[in-house]
Amino acid sequence: MSSCDRQVARATVRACTPAGRDGFLLRVALPAPFATPLEGGHFFMLRTDGADFPFLNRPFSVHSATPDGRGPELSFIFKAVGRGTGCLSRLRPGDAVTLVGPLGQPFPAATPGTTTVLVAGGVGLPPLFRWLERRRELGSREPALLLYGARFRDQLFELAAAEQLGVPVRTATEDGSHGLKGRVDALLAATLDELAPRPVVVYTCGPDPMMAAVARLAAARGVRCLVSLETLMACGFGVCNACAVPVTDGDGALARYARACIDGPVMEGTKVLWQAAAH
Ligand SMILES: Cc1cc2nc3c(=O)[nH]c(=O)nc-3n(C[C@H](O)[C@H](O)[C@H](O)COP(=O)(O)OP(=O)(O)OC[C@H]3O[C@@H](n4cnc5c(N)ncnc54)[C@H](O)[C@@H]3O)c2cc1C
Ligand code: FES
Repeated sequence: MSSCDRQVARATVRACTPAGRDGFLLRVALPAPFATPLEGGHFFMLRTDGADFPFLNRPFSVHSATPDGRGPELSFIFKAVGRGTGCLSRLRPGDAVTLVGPLGQPFPAATPGTTTVLVAGGVGLPPLFRWLERRRELGSREPALLLYGARFRDQLFELAAAEQLGVPVRTATEDGSHGLKGRVDALLAATLDELAPRPVVVYTCGPDPMMAAVARLAAARGVRCLVSLETLMACGFGVCNACAVPVTDGDGALARYARACIDGPVMEGTKVLWQAAAH
């Protein structure tokens, strides 16, 4: 989907309900479906009508698009961390939301003969959930599995729904309340051991330190890893440079800056200079 397909749409809130300990599941209805399906990693810049919403729209990955991947119902999962997400968390059925999108480079479809290992951290689930939903819509038989990590069980948002997407789901929590006790990169290490020497690709989304650890681990095993960045953004479509990400050509030195909104959010994990990207 190219940036030319970008629209400004007014959507109506169907529901905004608490999800887990500190998350929200927002379901909105659009006036018409999109011309082409939304892929895992596509995102929208959202805002509410309220005067207290910040000046800049806020980016959120598509979690689900029904009934056929084009809408008109979309859902998002978010954590209330500041003013914009605070406004979103107070939305009620019938309220209006403005969406700009779809935006960004999504995760590619499965590579034939390769197992796709999806690694999600907390509220990083949406682009990977949507990728699995799309895989099911396409009837893909390529193997995939989801590794889902969080600090506590109730930060494994929409776990039951993820378990209905037709692939094995393994979990890790730091307090041991669900699945492996520990971090999701430990789960990835064990899974890569188990899958070797079969061809594998890793797709990941979550907090930067988690994605950096996952990308490092994959690189050490010679496994390709794509990350979906959640860099701060202002416009979302390539005109403001607010989302500059330092990238390397592989020698660890800064080669240039990429724009997470149009060159990403999905990028090669080995290209991102994680230390310099930290904010
Ligand atoms: C492509 C993309 C997809 C995203 N998808 C999701 C999603 O599906 N669910 C979700 O919960 N969030 C997602 N985010 C992050 C989300 O956009 C931010 O949490 C949101 O913009 C915060 O807005 P705010 O006004 O509530 O917080 P602000 O008041 O702007 O910030 C509150 C605090 O959070 C910090 N912060 C804000 N945004 C980020 C960020 N991106 N990374 C690290 N720290 C940040 C600020 O520095 C500040 O300390 C995504 C971001 C991008 C770029
Ligand atoms: S957010 Fe404006 S260029 Fe990326």
